[in-house]
Amino acid sequence: MLRGRRVLLCVTGGVAAYKSAYLARRLLEAGAVVRVEMTDSALEFVGSQTFAAITGESPFTSLFDTVLVSPHTELARWADLVVVAPATAATLGRIANGISEDLVTATVLATTVPVLLAPAMHTEMWEHPATVRNLETLREFGYHVVGPEEGPLAGGDVGPGRVAEPEEILAAASGILAREGRGRKILITAGGTREPVDPVRFLGNRSSGKMGHAIADAAVVRGYDVTLVTTADLPVHPATKVIRVETAEEMLGAVEGTDPEIAILAAAVADFRPADTAESKIPRADGLSSIELASTPDILASVVGRAIPPFTVGFAAETGGLERAKEKARRKNVDLMVYNDVTEPGSGFGTDTNRVAFIDRDGAVEELPLLAKREVAERILDRVAAAVDGQG
Ligand SMILES: Cc1cc2nc3c(=O)[nH]c(=O)nc-3n(C[C@H](O)[C@H](O)[C@H](O)COP(=O)(O)O)c2cc1C
Repeated sequence: MLRGRRVLLCVTGGVAAYKSAYLARRLLEAGAVVRVEMTDSALEFVGSQTFAAITGESPFTSLFDTVLVSPHTELARWADLVVVAPATAATLGRIANGISEDLVTATVLATTVPVLLAPAMHTEMWEHPATVRNLETLREFGYHVVGPEEGPLAGGDVGPGRVAEPEEILAAASGILAREGRGRKILITAGGTREPVDPVRFLGNRSSGKMGHAIADAAVVRGYDVTLVTTADLPVHPATKVIRVETAEEMLGAVEGTDPEIAILAAAVADFRPADTAESKIPRADGLSSIELASTPDILASVVGRAIPPFTVGFAAETGGLERAKEKARRKNVDLMVYNDVTEPGSGFGTDTNRVAFIDRDGAVEELPLLAKREVAERILDRVAAAVDGQG
């Protein structure tokens, strides 16, 4: 479950910081991509060079003195999972109270991905009412906590407060990333198809592929086994299986080669293609008064028409209003239709935002506000999870 996943390891100032060097190594061995943040106190316990040698990149140690313009938000977005190990009483207290005055706490507050905390401290600190209350708050916020264990502590004391062993943290990290998707197969299509007129020219549409790629990225983070069939030349998460295609026919072929439990068909597939494609460039001098068109295959229909169809999400990028999309949802027989009016400002092709409405099988409509495409992606996956698993 950790293969190709991006883990941000945040090390804070306790003696157990030395164990996090080994944790970094184990995460890498499990296939994760690891970056490290360290607090000032952590640097008192372990040198940044140790982590640099293990991960191949110097740890990030400051909010301000770094090559990144906004390290907390950039690293918060980069990560699929944030692991704070060891997590001191001080760091836990700051996170619980929203005090984001250093890089680690600012990153934890800035991220939307799961956060795993591995507390480590002396028993008296662990049992202090302030720490007990902070832990309660952190659990309420939805943070995951692993350990601490009972055992020998620094200075010869024995009791609860010992950081969880690296293997246990590794297992917890893997479990969190696997929880929702559980490695289940999800197919996502993205981008507009290009139907060739001749080797130079094509009929296409304005779809950028950003929406489908955002869904694929979000699905990887949730632990799905993602196959992305795309026409877009956009970056993808390293854990994604990518099949790049151009035409509707190629997209159909790629889709037919998959057997997903869930299909989210966000690509804008051309409805028509030139009936014939010229083998060489049509010279301007020849003139061309018309292009004869032929229909392209209906990829959505081919998926919905399977003997055992996946849970299928279709997209209706329309200019004709919600009623038309509702009619399309019925006709296409999808489990969920995502409708957007591409004429609305900030919505649709090429933008980083989208305003969509969900139409379910019963025709019930949920209209969402204008959101970043990544947030729309999360909402779509929430609906899929709720429908497929009864998860809320
Ligand atoms: C030798 C030594 C060991 C420490 N071990 C711990 C520890 O295990 N857990 C803890 O919460 N604080 C521990 N502290 C105190 C923290 O280093 C201190 O609270 C610091 O401000 C934490 O900063 P940070 O959370 O920003 O890393 C230790 C301090 C010293 C001097």
